[in-house]
Amino acid sequence: ALRGSFVPKAEKANQRSHYGLQPLASYKVAILGAAGGIGQPLALLIKMSPLVSALKLYDIANVKGVAADLGHCNTPSQVQDFTGASELGNCLKGVNVVVIPAGVPRKPGMTRDDLFNINANIVKTLVEAVADNCPDAFIHIISNPVNSTVPIAAEVLKQKGVYDPKKLFGVTTLDVVRANTFVAQKKNLKLIDVDVPVVGGHAGITILPLLSKTKASVSFTDEEVEQLTVRIQNAGTEVVEAKAGAGSATLSMAYAAARFVESSLRALDGDGDVYECSFVQSDLTDLPFFASRIKLGRKGIEALIPSDLQGLSEYEEKALEALKPELKASIEKGIAFVQKQP
Ligand code: NAD
Ligand code: LMR
Repeated sequence: ALRGSFVPKAEKANQRSHYGLQPLASYKVAILGAAGGIGQPLALLIKMSPLVSALKLYDIANVKGVAADLGHCNTPSQVQDFTGASELGNCLKGVNVVVIPAGVPRKPGMTRDDLFNINANIVKTLVEAVADNCPDAFIHIISNPVNSTVPIAAEVLKQKGVYDPKKLFGVTTLDVVRANTFVAQKKNLKLIDVDVPVVGGHAGITILPLLSKTKASVSFTDEEVEQLTVRIQNAGTEVVEAKAGAGSATLSMAYAAARFVESSLRALDGDGDVYECSFVQSDLTDLPFFASRIKLGRKGIEALIPSDLQGLSEYEEKALEALKPELKASIEKGIAFVQKQP
């Protein structure tokens, strides 16, 4: 009131947002597979973001109730529901970030690659719609096997003539979240001080935590490196087994995906200091896709961060070479899936 009309726009928006009336920014986010185990808690976390004005929820069933429920939260974004293929285009129009957790999860005894036959088609169909309706959006792929579904998405976008490798992301944030949690626990560190880059891919030995590059001054014995690496690589399976047939990680995944969405929105909004790990098109190794730290900006990936891959420990060098054949095969399987279609 004292400063009257001299109060800057952003500050006014900020003040208003405290009353739950208007968002700080007006980005539109779509979740495809929004009624699922990941989709629902992810929608809740994104509903809490002050950077979102519209939250558009799509699924093949059960999404109306999720949207009605979430829509009663007194946070700024408007929630809309879209059910079935006929409403997918409308869901995607004007969207800045599309998150895709649609597809089946693992049961005990399965690998992520065992999901390929069902999820490859789901991702292909959804990304075709993204290409047709919001080709400029950031695309976050959660559906497994990520090592193949991201190359599938890239091929679909290429076929549609709208592929921008700077805007296609395989979500590997959960690997970083787990690495940070396990390292902090093991070494009794403050969580805020710990950041472990995780590179490679998102399945078994393709998940490579670079413990030697941990932010926080900490050292590990050879046994600790082995034990932590294996735990991080098997953390998804740990949850699948604990859930005993009821699915895979949903809550920690929603937390991780919400972090990646928030980072993307901050980057879109002009924050010049946003770094995340993600599985993206890459020239850091001889593989066409590779997870590493990336710098995010308004137009997507501003830079890949090569320094994490320099000066690796002997253990990490070996693990990096060992993961390449499996990751290469998964990438090629995804590309072939799209290219062989009539
Ligand atoms: P879920 O079965 O609980 O939910 C999946 C949702 O997708 C369901 O609501 C279903 O109706 C919907 N769906 C199916 N086909 C669809 C289509 N054609 N269009 C739109 N929606 C469709 O499964 P979940 O636990 O949420 O897991 C989803 C996926 O995420 C799985 O493939 C899982 O392996 C993967 N995942 C990835 C990570 C990661 O780190 N990237 C972590 C956890 C899970
Ligand atoms: C995870 O890492 O939790 C996900 O990829 C789900 C899974 O199948 O393990």
